[in-house]
Amino acid sequence: MSSRHQIDLSLRFDRRAKLPATRRIEATGADEVPASRPPKAEVQREAYLASPALEEVVNLAIALGRPLLLQGDPGCGKTRLAHAVAYALGLPIEESYIKSTSKAQDLLYTYDAVRRLHDVQLSTTAGRPRRANTVADYIRFGPLGRAIIRASHGRRSVVLIDEVDKADLDFPNDLLRELDRLEFDVAEAPEIAFKVPSDQPALRPIIIVTHNEEKALPTAFLRRCIFHYVKFPEEELEAILAQHDINDADLRRKAIEVVNKLRERELLKKPGLSELLDWVGYLQARKTKPAELDRLPAVQALIKNVADLDKAHAAFPSSMPTARRV
Ligand SMILES: Nc1ncnc2c1ncn2[C@@H]1O[C@H](COP(=O)(O)OP(=O)(O)OP(=O)(O)O)[C@@H](O)[C@H]1O
Ligand SMILES: [Mg+2]
Repeated sequence: MSSRHQIDLSLRFDRRAKLPATRRIEATGADEVPASRPPKAEVQREAYLASPALEEVVNLAIALGRPLLLQGDPGCGKTRLAHAVAYALGLPIEESYIKSTSKAQDLLYTYDAVRRLHDVQLSTTAGRPRRANTVADYIRFGPLGRAIIRASHGRRSVVLIDEVDKADLDFPNDLLRELDRLEFDVAEAPEIAFKVPSDQPALRPIIIVTHNEEKALPTAFLRRCIFHYVKFPEEELEAILAQHDINDADLRRKAIEVVNKLRERELLKKPGLSELLDWVGYLQARKTKPAELDRLPAVQALIKNVADLDKAHAAFPSSMPTARRV
């Protein structure tokens, strides 16, 4: 039987996590990792409501031990899902926000040779007795490295690799190898080596990769992932607003109605969930009455370019600036 089938399915992601309001996950016991000292991982409660399809695909990725690759509309909860999963499962999270210069190797560790050289020179020229710095003092473990170390000490982590397409194409290609192996040693100090125990699939990090469609990903990378497209959560909107402490039901309904009407228009950038949350949060704070929403107060939180602004005003004539109405 392949090791995959032995995964502990009791670790199910529940989209309505019933854990206490805040939960600190301290770096004690298994997290006190020699030579790595991963920071205390703290996972706050996440106001997050996943659709049944999203919940199912998270569980599928966990069961198969595959990275979950998320694409979808901006602001629809790709990044925050990793936090919600970590919170729901009571696991620490390791986060990696990818830049154009990111290298897959940096997810494991970086070695600061320049600082080491500088420290050695400084201690020699100052005539001070040389501090016994070892190579290990100049190693910094990256998010995937810390998750592998933690697994080697018996604790699972969630790993977020955010906006994988920001880096060049070498990044996903190189990442393939690291995701397959889930082990590494430090080239500069080969005695430092860690691996996820292969006979314990329940310790494999739960890896969530987000992708903003700026670049296509290599097919070999796609083959290893479970893919899901996160849609604008039409069905869950009201519940999500309530979760984000929008307490007036009439305000919630009216805000959703306005945003849905705007989204029906041919806009260059349709307002998404993130814009809706900003907008209605502001309106609630300003004690705006639901009936006033047709005038599109604070429309700048919803509409992000001038062509769309004209279309928004056309959809809601009472919002027309006075100069245009005459
Ligand atoms: N399903 C959800 N339930 C509750 N809140 C959500 C949900 N999805 C998104 N949000 C909220 O919307 C905001 C944006 O979410 P997030 O940053 O995860 O979006 P994203 O898809 O990663 O966006 P981008 O593509 O711009 O990076 C956050 O404040 C998040 O809490
Ligand atoms: Mg994001």
